[in-house]
Amino acid sequence: MQIIFIGGGNMAEAIFSRLENGSHDVKLNIVVIQHNLDKRTRLSAQYPNIRFLPSLNFTPTADDIIILAVKPQDAKNTCLSLPKISGTIVSVMAGVNTNTLSRWLNSNKITRVMPNTAAKLGLSVNGIFYLPKVPLKYRQIIESVMSYIGKNHIVNDEDSINKITAIASSSPAYVFYFIEALIDSAVNKFGFSDADAHDITLQVLKSSIAMIEGEVCTPIKQLRANISSKKGTTEQAIHVFEKANLKQIVLDAQTACYDRAKELARIIDTE
Ligand SMILES: NC(=O)c1ccc[n+]([C@@H]2O[C@H](COP(=O)([O-])OP(=O)(O)OC[C@H]3O[C@@H](n4cnc5c(N)ncnc54)[C@H](OP(=O)(O)O)[C@@H]3O)[C@@H](O)[C@H]2O)c1
Repeated sequence: MQIIFIGGGNMAEAIFSRLENGSHDVKLNIVVIQHNLDKRTRLSAQYPNIRFLPSLNFTPTADDIIILAVKPQDAKNTCLSLPKISGTIVSVMAGVNTNTLSRWLNSNKITRVMPNTAAKLGLSVNGIFYLPKVPLKYRQIIESVMSYIGKNHIVNDEDSINKITAIASSSPAYVFYFIEALIDSAVNKFGFSDADAHDITLQVLKSSIAMIEGEVCTPIKQLRANISSKKGTTEQAIHVFEKANLKQIVLDAQTACYDRAKELARIIDTE
């Protein structure tokens, strides 16, 4: 069995770098198609056990897994340029739905995986959707491969991939935005230096995550209540969030992301 990546960019590297270093039940033979010579040269030097090729100059076997990892805007031309694929196809491309891929690739053995940017740390959330024809044996291998970059969440309908986009794939940016706001306020209102504001805020985030993970049986709402005593200081801040309806703002933001994911898929499908 070969695992063939079409496109050797950030997401593909996040996956194959972790695969190469991991321990596997099956021997993995990794091939990466990267058409850019400079990138190919850099990758070949860095990953001597992986074969890097400028194009798919052989026909994959039915036992191979082909991972499509080019930008969505390159997806159509790339798919149409591939030889007939009888193996299992996995797309990590955002906004390209399985109907579209089936049409371009003349295959129904297609899986969509929606990872996020934390893949390179092994901390991604991977939404996984299988078309019914993807054989069980390959589902297990795909889940094992994807577990190297994060936690898998299997979904039963493709629209849930758009939902995963809204609640997980784009979410690191929402969290970064809130962190930016905390840092900006520490600097602009309270006069801390950028470095101090950054350090303090980072420590607050680390300790908040540690408390959530350390007290898994305690609802997060309760953790918040525990440090928001009546008429105390924290409660005053939470009142401001509630007055501005922060939870509704988050819901609106995630809905906007979900709607855009569906819209992008529609645009690519009609191209
Ligand atoms: N990065 C993320 O955090 C993330 C998260 C979720 C999903 N994704 C999805 O993952 C996919 C890849 O994203 P990325 O961030 O890894 O993009 P990227 O870094 O641009 O990687 C794509 C690579 O594919 C190469 N390429 C393009 N067409 C090719 C072809 N026909 N044959 C061989 N190589 C080709 C590109 O080379 P040139 O640039 O030189 O053309 C580029 O190096 C996207 O569809 C994206 O939606 C990414």
